[in-house]
Amino acid sequence: MSAPLLKADGLCKSYAGVHAVAEVSFSLVEGTITAMIGPNGSGKSTTVDLVTGFQAADAGMVSLDGRALTGLAPEQIARSGLMRTFQQVRVYDTLAIEENLLTAAQETDGTGWLDALLRSRRFRAADSAARARAAELLDLVGLARMAQAPAGVLSYGQKKLVALAGALMPRPRLVILDEPVAGVNPTRVLEVEAIIRRLHQAGQSFLIIEHNVDFVMRLSQRVIVLDQGRKIADGTPEEVRANEAVLEAYLGTEAEPADA
Ligand SMILES: Nc1ncnc2c1ncn2[C@@H]1O[C@H](COP(=O)(O)OP(=O)(O)OP(=O)(O)O)[C@@H](O)[C@H]1O
Ligand SMILES: [Mg+2]
Repeated sequence: MSAPLLKADGLCKSYAGVHAVAEVSFSLVEGTITAMIGPNGSGKSTTVDLVTGFQAADAGMVSLDGRALTGLAPEQIARSGLMRTFQQVRVYDTLAIEENLLTAAQETDGTGWLDALLRSRRFRAADSAARARAAELLDLVGLARMAQAPAGVLSYGQKKLVALAGALMPRPRLVILDEPVAGVNPTRVLEVEAIIRRLHQAGQSFLIIEHNVDFVMRLSQRVIVLDQGRKIADGTPEEVRANEAVLEAYLGTEAEPADA
């Protein structure tokens, strides 16, 4: 068996005595789509924050490709090949859509403000590669014709696609999507699904957090379930659908809220 791409071991995080994440361990295989599901407040986004360095874990270890990420800053983790999107979509409304993608790339390509100011050879090479990558990704998400429009004109679902494209700019080893289709209409959900499938076929690895269980069950080879900060199931979509603890966790809660 090859080493896992991502390994999380014993992650813990408490807020004022509440265990947001308690002893969560999992690993992901390269080239796969893994889903993480669970009721509201079960610790999914906090787990993503711990893995990507946006919050410091109280305990636990994370490694990417066998390299420890624990204690690194978010930019260092991004540079090492792990990118993410946020549940509350983050795009710069006043910047052109293409510029949003270039900004995402600059945060990871190692060129600094001095390179940009001097338009150094390194900057120009990185800039032209980034523009080509941005064009390719905007084409993939169906926004190529709007590349020069400010991101503020986009619908909520389209902004989520810009965030996805931004996360893919540096060709990450793994991308984590926190609720890519929450609040997105059903037709667009199918479009997002097709985009993720194409990326996966090209070799991209994903961890996808979602409340839309049907969406992730169709896409994923593996499903991790959290409830009240703990992992309660981890298996194939079929195994997880049949798991008693999972049915119980969702009982009395909505499996697919319209927007969460
Ligand atoms: N910064 C914070 N301060 C205090 N409590 C927090 C903070 N962030 C998260 N929590 C709490 O930690 C728990 C887990 O929250 P988290 O956002 O990780 O859940 P989630 O599974 O992503 O939920 P949702 O599906 O609603 O997005 C919740 O009880 C939440 O209120
Ligand atoms: Mg969340």
